[in-house]
Amino acid sequence: MPTDTAFADPEMGEPFLLTPGPLTTAAEVKHAMLRDWGSWDGDFRAMTARLRAGILALLGPGAEGFDCVPMQGSGSYLVEAMIGSFVPPAGAARPGKVLVLANGAYGLRAAETCRVLGRPFTLIDKGDYLPPRGPEVAAALAADPAISHVLAIHCETSSGILNPLPEIAAATAAAGRQLLIDSMSAFGAVPLGPEAIAFQAMVSSANKCIEGVPGFGFVVARSDALAQAAGNSHSLALDVHAQWAAMNRTGQWRFTPPTHAVAAFLRALELHAAEGGVAGRGARYGRNRDTLVSGMRALGFETLLEDRWLSPIIVTFFTPADPAFDFARFYDLMKAAGFIIYPGKLTIVDSFRMGCIGALDHAIMARAVAAAGEALRTMGVRSAAPPAAALAARSAIAP
Ligand SMILES: Cc1ncc(COP(=O)(O)O)c(C=O)c1O
Repeated sequence: MPTDTAFADPEMGEPFLLTPGPLTTAAEVKHAMLRDWGSWDGDFRAMTARLRAGILALLGPGAEGFDCVPMQGSGSYLVEAMIGSFVPPAGAARPGKVLVLANGAYGLRAAETCRVLGRPFTLIDKGDYLPPRGPEVAAALAADPAISHVLAIHCETSSGILNPLPEIAAATAAAGRQLLIDSMSAFGAVPLGPEAIAFQAMVSSANKCIEGVPGFGFVVARSDALAQAAGNSHSLALDVHAQWAAMNRTGQWRFTPPTHAVAAFLRALELHAAEGGVAGRGARYGRNRDTLVSGMRALGFETLLEDRWLSPIIVTFFTPADPAFDFARFYDLMKAAGFIIYPGKLTIVDSFRMGCIGALDHAIMARAVAAAGEALRTMGVRSAAPPAAALAARSAIAP
């Protein structure tokens, strides 16, 4: 468990990042970057090997038959690399087609990525906050035999909804198709064991639930799928097969690796293990969320999502209806108190978000709630209740 001394210090001018990554990292993780590494050197190659094995270990007992391929870039680079490498292009012996499940910005970005890469796709767009469900995936797959892959977002970070991956994976496997997962903001804190959730490939990034710094992401994929992905990619740099094959052959990254970010990540993995791995990390984030949600509700705020869909990653709150509430002012007051929050990303109602991930615990979240209460008082907001229309939208969510 992290201790208070590992946390960002508002008095030193470093606010807590209540954001979904980049996030607040532990002091040990920052310190791990105070050294330079030769990218071709045996020491760094050993670090890369440890990184790959450490990520694979997080899959749990079902990791056999999977391999991990780290790649330079932010999360979107990894999503693009995954789609381009695992979905065979037009002209391949069996061209692929993707069923994209969207309920927010990142699902829509995945669809846009398919469009740009020239991979045909069908979109199930559930809007801002409704979860894609197993039966509708099954129906879409039954209706279109050309669909080879389903692409699902694990935690849709734009609303904070934890999508029902087990039922989506079951429907995909029952139809004999392959599942691709964007687990950017969930991997490391929400279980993703292949024995429970069958998938071909997933992607995540260093600066999310493992609590590293930005600079790279990683693909975890079935080794047989990696081997078959040769020649699929439209891209030289984002070719997962090429990166995998070169890394296996040389132990090196193909192009300049983010050496300091890798060193930080290895320290972050040690802290992750010391906290009890995926279960321990998920439990702390769950406590963070519970403290945040109960405290904000006590102030009168309402969450976009009912409890069962709330992820332990990030929570969307409706903007209060009280005309004295001004988000820009609220943001500044929260920042002055040491907390960076996040604007909302919904299209239908005004909202803002507060993240639960990073090197922070429930005591910090309680301080964030107290800061929110103080900000309301400063602005003269009498009630944090949302407009009635926002609550009506929420009640449309399926049980
Ligand atoms: C679910 C999800 N997918 C994709 C991304 C895109 O990652 P990036 O902004 O690092 O490119 C994010 C970023 O937060 C995300 O949460």
